[in-house]
Amino acid sequence: MSTIVDEIIELFDTKGREPYGEDVSVAEHGLQCAALADREGAGEALVVAALLHDVGHLIEDPDDGYGVHRHDAGGAAFLARHFPEAVVAPVRMHVAAKRYRVAVDPGYAARLSAASTHTLAHQGGPMSPDEVREFEADPHLAAALRLREWDDHGKVDGLDVAPIEAYRDRMQRLLTG
Ligand SMILES: [Fe+2]
Repeated sequence: MSTIVDEIIELFDTKGREPYGEDVSVAEHGLQCAALADREGAGEALVVAALLHDVGHLIEDPDDGYGVHRHDAGGAAFLARHFPEAVVAPVRMHVAAKRYRVAVDPGYAARLSAASTHTLAHQGGPMSPDEVREFEADPHLAAALRLREWDDHGKVDGLDVAPIEAYRDRMQRLLTG
């Protein structure tokens, strides 16, 4: 019987190989982010969040050559059916985390990739002061900001990292249903 973990692995091996405006595919990007999380000793849920944070690009049709602009909400809704909030929240917040960083860190926007800069405009641009305050009150703030760092760095063309199968058991352990 095929499980949701099999389905996710299948998504990575098929749709995940398609380009979405970065130098790497969605699958390569997720695997690089998970590898960075792993290297920094992040907990299992946050490693899996890093791996799956862009799954929203794989389950909906793209808005343009840069993928699905609201892939945060779509991905989080998909993951919430199977994984705990410790996985879902950083995924739901990873686009907001970019809007937050742009608002509070003047040098951050200049470091974003061209694709991230393009999608930022479609995602609401920098946060307003009220949005910043609300975001900072979220209990998952720290996890979301860590994920954002990996997200911004996990875009290296041709980097050799562990395959999706290396995360099968961790995904399986975290399943809520
Ligand atoms: Fe990403």
